[in-house]
Amino acid sequence: MAEIKTIGVLTSGGDAPGMNAAIRAVTRTALSHGVKVKGIKRGYAGLLAEEIVDLERQNVSDTIQRGGTILGTARCMEFTTEEGQAQGAEICKKHGIDGIVVIGGDGSYRGAQALARHGINTIGIPGTIDLDIACTDYTIGFDTAVNTAMQAIDKVRDTSSSHERCSIIEVMGRNAGYIALWCGIANGAEDILLPETYDYNEQNIINNIIQNRKKGKKHHIIINAEGIGHSTSMARRIEAATGIETRATILGYMQRGGSPTCKDRYYASIMGAYAADILIEGKTNRVVAFKGGEFVDFDIEEALNMTKEIPEYQYKISKVL
Ligand code: ADP
Ligand code: F6P
Repeated sequence: MAEIKTIGVLTSGGDAPGMNAAIRAVTRTALSHGVKVKGIKRGYAGLLAEEIVDLERQNVSDTIQRGGTILGTARCMEFTTEEGQAQGAEICKKHGIDGIVVIGGDGSYRGAQALARHGINTIGIPGTIDLDIACTDYTIGFDTAVNTAMQAIDKVRDTSSSHERCSIIEVMGRNAGYIALWCGIANGAEDILLPETYDYNEQNIINNIIQNRKKGKKHHIIINAEGIGHSTSMARRIEAATGIETRATILGYMQRGGSPTCKDRYYASIMGAYAADILIEGKTNRVVAFKGGEFVDFDIEEALNMTKEIPEYQYKISKVL
C-alpha cells in the first residue's frame, strides 16, 4: 500500500451549510498526520480546469460558521464521461494528489467511484440538504435547511392566520420528501405532500380545508415538496374550489444558504476528520455515514445500491398531529 502524502478535497453538486466545517476538518486532520492538502475548486469542473490550491491550517480558519462552500461547487457533465474521468485522474497524478475527499450527494459519489477506478483513492462525505442518501441517517446541511425553512414557514403562518388564508409552502428536496416531512411536523402543517406518498387527489385536500374552516381554523398550511411542485397552479385550483383565498410561497434557495446549525458543524467536523483518517489509512472507494448512532463507512457501490423510504410511522404520526 503506497503511503498517502497529499490529499485533495472538493465539494460537488448543490452546496450545503456545513460543507466548510467538513473541508476544515479534512484539512486540519490530514495536516496533523503530516499529509499535505490541496483544495480543488468548483467540484469536478475545477479538477478538470486544474483549479487547485494548497490548503494550510490558516486557510480554513474563520470558515466553520459560514454557509455555502469556500471551495465553490459545480455540476460538471464532462466528468460523467470516461474521457473526463481519465483526465481527472491524470490531473490528480500530475499534482501529486494520492487521494481525494469528495463532499456531495449520490451523483458526486459516482464521480468518486470513477476516480477510484482510475487509481486515485477516494472517500465520499454525504453533503446535501435533501437527506436523500440511503446509507446514512444524516447528511450535511439538512439540519440547517429544515431550521431555516421552519422559521420561514412560521412567518408565513402569521400572515396566513391574520388574513384567514390557505397557504401552500413549497420546500426543496429534489425527489425526496424529507424536508417536507420534517417541516410539516415541526410547523404543525394541516397537510403534508410528499413525492413518495402523495396520491394526487386534490379533492382530499379541498375537503380537509373546508372541514377545518367549519371548525373555525383561521389558517391552513400545506407543505408541498419540490418533487411534487406546481404550488402556484395548485393554489389557484384550491381557491376556486373552496372560495378561500389561497397563496403559494416557494421558499427556494434561501433553504440552502446561511450559517450552519451546531448539529451541522459538529457532524460535518467529525465526518471530515473520519474521511481524512480512513483515506490516510489507505481505504478507498468508501463513503462516510452516520448509521445506528455511529460514524461508519461503506463501499460506494454498496452505499449506492441501498434504498431508503420515508419512515412509515413518522409519516403516519404527521397525519394524526
Ligand atoms: P449530487 O452529488 O448532489 O447528487 P449531482 O447529481 O448533480 O449532485 O452530481 C454532482 C456531480 O457529480 C455532477 O455534476 C457530475 O460532475 C458528477 N457525477 C454525477 N453523476 C456521475 C456519474 N454517473 N459519473 C461520474 N460523475 C458523475
Ligand atoms: O440537492 C440540493 C438541491 O437544492 C435540491 O433540493 C434541488 O432540487 C436542487 O438542489 C436544485 O439544484 P440547482 O442548484 O441546480 O438549481
